[in-house]
Amino acid sequence: MAKSSGDRLRAARLLIRIDDGAFASRLLERDASPGVRVRVLGVLRWQRALDHALAPFLKRPPTRLDSEVRTALRMGCFEVRHLGVPGPVATDEMIRLTRRLGKSSATGMVNAVLRRVVATEPAVSPPDLRWSHPEWVWRRWEERFGAEPAEAAMAAAQEPATPWVWFVDDRSKADAEDAGAVLQPHVWCPDAWTAIEGRPELMARIRRGVAVVQDPSSQMVARIAVSLADGTGRAADLCAAPGGKTALMNEIGRWDFLVAGDRSPFKAGRLGRRLNEMPVMVADAGHPALAAGAWDLVLLDAPCSGTGTFRRHPELKWRLRPESVVEAVGQQRPMIAAALDLLAPGGVLVYATCSIEPEENEAHFESLTDGSERVAMDDHLPVAMPWIETAAGGVRILPHEHGDGFTVHAVRRRD
Ligand SMILES: C[S@@+](CC[C@H](N)C(=O)[O-])C[C@H]1O[C@@H](n2cnc3c(N)ncnc32)[C@H](O)[C@@H]1O
Repeated sequence: MAKSSGDRLRAARLLIRIDDGAFASRLLERDASPGVRVRVLGVLRWQRALDHALAPFLKRPPTRLDSEVRTALRMGCFEVRHLGVPGPVATDEMIRLTRRLGKSSATGMVNAVLRRVVATEPAVSPPDLRWSHPEWVWRRWEERFGAEPAEAAMAAAQEPATPWVWFVDDRSKADAEDAGAVLQPHVWCPDAWTAIEGRPELMARIRRGVAVVQDPSSQMVARIAVSLADGTGRAADLCAAPGGKTALMNEIGRWDFLVAGDRSPFKAGRLGRRLNEMPVMVADAGHPALAAGAWDLVLLDAPCSGTGTFRRHPELKWRLRPESVVEAVGQQRPMIAAALDLLAPGGVLVYATCSIEPEENEAHFESLTDGSERVAMDDHLPVAMPWIETAAGGVRILPHEHGDGFTVHAVRRRD
């Protein structure tokens, strides 16, 4: 089997598992082939627009077809519209793919539909359809952030994410450059780099653990937390897995003690292996097994709807419902209350989410923390960072600003 046909088959199998509820990022950890990755993430990103293009030629909506057939149709349409594969080639490949997926009886239909789709010019459509987002997301973002930023955020979610890294020390960075990596700094995140040439040299350092891949927004939350606590004293990271922020906090802080916890035993196990010399616990952030009133910094990087991360997790767009935002609030409230109890006098709680929705950020955080002092973060941010201030004095980055979308708030316990 040609490599590209093999990639198509592997991508289709992953897409079928994702249809059943698996997470793309987890499956792609084990299959990093670019040909698989581009198809899996591309089909998920463009799913709504692809289904819209296919629908006029189908007797029932794509969502009601067998998963195997739906996947072949979506992938064929994606390859033509977004990878520039010639129509007849994509159609023949999808017929073969349908057969390999055990649906020989559907090959005639796949052939007929794809031939008609590839001969049709995409029509001009409203922004949510053009950028393949759910209509409710578009309406919500347009109302809250304005049409232009909302459309820019949707457009950015359709692009592959650049792999940004930080280096564990200057020597490792210099060594990568000596070996041929041409590094480019991030536009606003300090010490975040990507390779514009010599990517294999950077990859080799990532595998060795001296360069750490982390989205700039995630790096920035860790940097803000360290800066607000001056990097000293006792710090606890309550929702720490997979450990990106803890690792960077450990790297740039001078803590007396830094502990990381996560509710999931599986994730905490992986976290323990990643942060091998650090205390790691399996604990519910709503009832952390830590001494109250003893912590100079508590980071609560709370579970959330994740609306700032559609570029990395495109299947979320199709799984979330408007009510998911409210559900996240219910989950976070006990964690915020418990995190406040942990603070020593003068200690800082940094509450972050990778959601850009006000309801699961400032709207409830403000009411839960009204006895604490709001901490302004302006002096702790890079000048070039294009953030917007939330109604509770927090910091929000929208997902088209060279990183995932995120929101962060901080309060200090009064002495
Ligand atoms: C946004 S992720 C954290 C990402 C992490 N801070 C990083 O930078 O790599 C949220 C994490 O919260 C964990 N989580 C969910 N509910 C929790 C709870 N009640 N207590 C502690 N952790 C929880 C999830 O397992 C998940 O790993």
